[in-house]
Amino acid sequence: MSEAPERQNPRRSHILQWHITHRCNLFCAHCYQRDRAEEMPAQMLRETLDKYCRFLEARHFCGRVYLTGGEPLLHPEFFTLAREITERGIAFSVLTNGTLIDRLTANRLALLHPLFVQVSLDGVWEAHDAVRGEFSFIQALNGIDALAAERIPVMVSFTAQKNNLKSFPALARICAEHGVRKLWWDRVVTDTPEMTKQLALTTEQFRQFCRKASRLQKRYQRPDGSSLISLERSLQCMEEGKCYTCHPGSGMVTILADGSVMPCRRLPFIAGNITEGELDEILASDPTTQELQCSPIPAACADCRYAERCRGGAKCVTYGQTGRLFEKDINCFYQ
Ligand SMILES: C[S@@+](CC[C@H](N)C(=O)[O-])C[C@H]1O[C@@H](n2cnc3c(N)ncnc32)[C@H](O)[C@@H]1O
Ligand code: SF4
Ligand code: SF4
Repeated sequence: MSEAPERQNPRRSHILQWHITHRCNLFCAHCYQRDRAEEMPAQMLRETLDKYCRFLEARHFCGRVYLTGGEPLLHPEFFTLAREITERGIAFSVLTNGTLIDRLTANRLALLHPLFVQVSLDGVWEAHDAVRGEFSFIQALNGIDALAAERIPVMVSFTAQKNNLKSFPALARICAEHGVRKLWWDRVVTDTPEMTKQLALTTEQFRQFCRKASRLQKRYQRPDGSSLISLERSLQCMEEGKCYTCHPGSGMVTILADGSVMPCRRLPFIAGNITEGELDEILASDPTTQELQCSPIPAACADCRYAERCRGGAKCVTYGQTGRLFEKDINCFYQ
């Protein structure tokens, strides 16, 4: 019996990280979203979605849209856009600070069946509030409870910084108690020497935190073998045979509220503007995106046994601190 065409040639998945607004109700200390003015108007949202659909067809990709910001729920067209995305057969998720999610909002979201909602928690109680502002922890936790009550899968994102590492075990406990599916973490990206000094992890802090997260991953293992704690990002879990490859601009693309197209939100490169052409053409005609897609192995990584997959670790963290691309990860502790 011959296989169905879809199984013979399954579509590769592709993610659009779409910052539909740059407005936000919080002012987090580490946030890369410094421009607060832009918000994509309704007509431009529609045209951008059209272009993304054409891109998916042209590349034979199966798309997913991550709606984010700023705070995406502040956009007056948020729910209309989310519905249009699903009506076109594209799955969507929301990346949010969680503070604006009450029972009604959670219920409206549930009716649209998001793949997941990701809420940012950068510690517990005072530790989180020190990064994100007074009362933001309890508001985000209430948001998580409202989502969980609607059976929406909740992920939590933790941005590891010098001052919040200690609160991670307590955060894991709270996530487990509140029905969070996955707690994932990554290093803060800094782009000035002051920010690096204040927030960035040293290599030793990163090494120790990876070990701690690995122990927690085992502690929070479920009977089916999955765990609450995710170790999926660069350099987090190499010793256990898992290795994340950072490939900006190939499996994922970012569009900002002013239409800027970026191979990755965490790298300061703009490939073009979505109002000026088709997404395919914009990515194909930008030399930096092309170079990032190839992701050459840094010379200093040439002898590393992980080099083929790791390809130098997190380009964003290293570029932010050194201004150089395609270098060995600034926090690599494997060699
Ligand atoms: C820009 S926010 C937008 C969505 C929403 N407002 C939120 O806070 O989750 C998306 C994620 O980016 C993270 N982020 C912001 N600035 C960052 C930085 N400099 N380095 C690493 N992650 C950062 C936030 O902590 C958050 O988890
Ligand atoms: S809530 Fe999100 S977008 Fe707003 S300041 Fe914090 S990290 Fe930035
Ligand atoms: S040496 Fe390079 S390739 Fe090897 S783990 Fe470190 S960053 Fe990755």
